[in-house]
Amino acid sequence: RQRTLVLVKPDGVARGLVGEVLRRIEAKGYTLVALELRTADADLLAEHYAEHAGKPFLGPLIEFMSSGPVAAVVVEGHRAIEGFRSLAGATDPTTAAPGTIRGDLARDWGRKVIENIVHGSDSPESAAREIALWFPSL
Ligand code: GTP
Ligand code: MG
Repeated sequence: RQRTLVLVKPDGVARGLVGEVLRRIEAKGYTLVALELRTADADLLAEHYAEHAGKPFLGPLIEFMSSGPVAAVVVEGHRAIEGFRSLAGATDPTTAAPGTIRGDLARDWGRKVIENIVHGSDSPESAAREIALWFPSL
């Protein structure tokens, strides 16, 4: 069965939305196989966001993502990668469809980084890489 890495980002944790995000994942029928609350350091996040190396928002993104705890979750189920991306909605919360996590729960605060509550791996290769990074014992 397929696995994906989900992060409830610092904005989601700070706003008390961990339970709501996990509720939606479980209600959809996926299984939680690992769950940890932790504050990530810049090294971990630079690796996590390696695909964004060189982009102007990478520095602010790492700063934001290390500003407080995130809930790191490994989610399992047939087509869970695609399924969670669908639950999360579009990257920009202003236009993310209502009914999605970002569409229902996030908005643009006019800050340097798009604060959009959740991260989800975008491919099987990313999922394997990210799960190994966040949960080396899995
Ligand atoms: P993740 O699931 O978090 O990876 O989101 P995503 O796959 O929808 O977006 P992407 O991987 O392209 O970007 C990672 C994160 O960087 C986003 O979730 C945003 O928080 C932030 N981000 C992406 N694009 C921009 C941008 O153009 N400007 C700014 N300020 N932030 C961005
Ligand atoms: Mg991404």
